[in-house]
Amino acid sequence: MKVGSSPASERREALTDVLRRARGCVRCAELAATRQNVVFGAGNADADLMFVGEAPGAREDELGLPFVGRAGKLLEQLLGEIGLERADVFIANVLKCRPPSNRDPLPAEIANCSEYLMAQVDLIAPRVICTLGNFATKLLRSDTAGITRVHGRAEVHQIGPRSVRLYPIYHPAAALYTPRMLEVLREDFAGLPALLAQPAPAQPLSEPTLPVLPPSGQDGSTSASTSASPGPDSTELAAESEPGRAPEPGQMELF
Ligand code: URA
Repeated sequence: MKVGSSPASERREALTDVLRRARGCVRCAELAATRQNVVFGAGNADADLMFVGEAPGAREDELGLPFVGRAGKLLEQLLGEIGLERADVFIANVLKCRPPSNRDPLPAEIANCSEYLMAQVDLIAPRVICTLGNFATKLLRSDTAGITRVHGRAEVHQIGPRSVRLYPIYHPAAALYTPRMLEVLREDFAGLPALLAQPAPAQPLSEPTLPVLPPSGQDGSTSASTSASPGPDSTELAAESEPGRAPEPGQMELF
């Protein structure tokens, strides 16, 4: 069992509850109206290594899976070079919905969505989190320092109730078009096995508990567009809990 956390089966079940909530989330009115799928994240729900990217792109939105486009292929290739595959790690994003035209995430969207990411970190309980690019790095380091300054250096940070080794690296999408960046990304990736071989960071002293999320859209969510987030409407919540409702394709076997 991982230090300071509940058994893996309980955490996985709780993660499935968070997935269900995220799938019904309407906190960001624009994203909820334009998405095809909520891209919650996928992989090993008990992974020691978690990757956090920025937000789904077109292909991810279409399939409901993270990093399935060209950047994802590069991520898989780099994982392979250190002897890992997707099934060994958990891959998520700062935003679970695609921003229209792949624009940058808005601060209010990041704030609305961060609870899902925090719950994922708490439940998966990774020892190492690799932040991919600026958005994930700034959010999880709680600092404005950019990726160029901080990449390739691991630091222990407290994320919610857990202490985690954060390891910022360049975003693979940026490295696709810049050979020098790809070289640096590959060098930073090569540091991962040693980091994973280190003991888990000491955990803050507290009893392990499973996080409880308030209903999506009903808590202190922040308006993420010119129109205020209306909160879940009754039809959406009813559809969420409707028995026998067909699952969205590819959404039920994420982890
Ligand atoms: N870029 C990201 O940041 N996330 C994805 O899921 C795909 C591309």
